[in-house]
Amino acid sequence: MLALNDIGKTYPNGVQALEGIGLRVEAGEILAILGGSGCGKSTLLRLIAGLDRPAPGRVVLDGAEVSGPHEKIGVVFQEPRLFPWLTVAGNVGFGLGRRPAHERRALVEEALRRVGLVDKAGVWPRELSGGQAQRVAIARALVTRPEVLLLDEPFSALDALHPDRPSGPSAACVGTDRAATDADRGDP
Ligand SMILES: Nc1ncnc2c1ncn2[C@@H]1O[C@H](COP(=O)(O)OP(=O)(O)OP(=O)(O)O)[C@@H](O)[C@H]1O
Ligand SMILES: [Mg+2]
Repeated sequence: MLALNDIGKTYPNGVQALEGIGLRVEAGEILAILGGSGCGKSTLLRLIAGLDRPAPGRVVLDGAEVSGPHEKIGVVFQEPRLFPWLTVAGNVGFGLGRRPAHERRALVEEALRRVGLVDKAGVWPRELSGGQAQRVAIARALVTRPEVLLLDEPFSALDALHPDRPSGPSAACVGTDRAATDADRGDP
């Protein structure tokens, strides 16, 4: 279970991005965070991911405080943020740490299969379409088989190309890998 208690975040320039945020996400649950531009969605996801620290408050995953980036937490940022000097497979496997080569290969292939891009494993990010780059970023988040998946408007670049895109609140999402698997299968 992921729990946030009375989280706040004030940036060094004095902008108070978040105040008094509390939430709980159980295994299998999907939580959508809705709000207009600048309301603090990305800030909240960065805090949950351990990429920034809240003050006040704590982010707790399965009883342990999250104090830095974590294999159990996968993040898809608002932009794909792929490393241009690594192939697709290199990007997906980046967070796998010290695992034997055969295990890395199998995990990378499994993640690329889930986003339908096994055939792109050897290509460079510059050779991908915008949507393919975002799918690689999703595979990179899935590769460690995280318990928590944070999706920060992962389809926003696609939406921006759409002339009828509604302007209004956008969504960030906190879910679990089990929930993502259910969504893949089309289960409710
Ligand atoms: N590194 C930073 N330093 C200072 N202020 C920041 C920083 N990052 C974000 N902010 C400010 O914090 C507030 C929340 O920003 P955040 O990126 O979390 O919004 P958001 O809800 O994700 O918006 P969007 O929908 O446009 O992505 C904004 O006022 C923003 O200007
Ligand atoms: Mg944002």
